[in-house]
Amino acid sequence: MSDIEDHCTMLKKIGKIAKLPVAAIGKSVTLLLHPMKTIEQRDFSNIVFFTGAGMSAESGVPIYRGKGGIWGSYSIEEYACQEAFERNPEKVLAFHEKRRSSVLDCTPHDGHRVIADMSCARVVTQNIDGMHQRAGSKEVIELHGSLWRLRCQSCGFRKEDFGEKFETNRCDCGDWLRPDIVWFGDMLDAVVMSKASQAIGNCDLFISIGTSGTVWPAARYPDLAKKSGAYCIEINPEPSGDIAYDRVVEGAAGEVLPELFGVSRR
Ligand code: APR
Repeated sequence: MSDIEDHCTMLKKIGKIAKLPVAAIGKSVTLLLHPMKTIEQRDFSNIVFFTGAGMSAESGVPIYRGKGGIWGSYSIEEYACQEAFERNPEKVLAFHEKRRSSVLDCTPHDGHRVIADMSCARVVTQNIDGMHQRAGSKEVIELHGSLWRLRCQSCGFRKEDFGEKFETNRCDCGDWLRPDIVWFGDMLDAVVMSKASQAIGNCDLFISIGTSGTVWPAARYPDLAKKSGAYCIEINPEPSGDIAYDRVVEGAAGEVLPELFGVSRR
């Protein structure tokens, strides 16, 4: 056994390991990574997970911006605003059926499951895909609405609708039903915002995952949590740089969350 292999055997016994290709010696070696300091769930009574597109992207849900992002292939003016819906409701609804179909092809990952298994946790999400609920989370505050709900733009009637295709696109009052999501130019729902602020303002552990924190009101939530006395953690392969966080874990949600809470991955 070489010195390196010998050393690795010892490291495997005492800590965490990672395989890294090391060009200099032309082979893959195993290096020690410090075990992640775990969070004890029982030390906190109100945990809020605040999630964004990165949380779902790891399950394969298409992202919005950047390479491969939805808005690179579909223009917001044609598909994601009230004016577009008024011009051509069928086209906009067909686009949203495509989005539903692509979400149904995805499954929640280990990170979603870790959150769902925590009965005292609440989720505030910018995602509209329902992945947290599919993983089993009960208390989910959806800031930007849901792909799985329709709303009448005349009488305000709301209808849950979970299939790939919309069961109907007409309200009993005769007007169109539109996806109950926040399109560009829409106002956020004041009741939902107030619930989110209350949850975040009352939590003692705030964990932000997979959000750039650039879109309002996400941008103010870490600060709100911090000022309310919560311990604040960010999980992101490309951290936001927000100074409100007490701890930043660089990495993917599905890998970091199980490790952070000391539970095994499935
Ligand atoms: N785990 C954690 N974070 C990840 C992962 C992952 N596996 N993959 C990517 N990320 C991070 C990226 O580094 C980025 O910081 O997810 C973040 C995604 O940022 P945005 O695309 O800006 O998404 P989000 O913050 O949710 O945007 C808010 O903007 O277009 C609107 O309504 C849309 O909800 C969306 C909102």
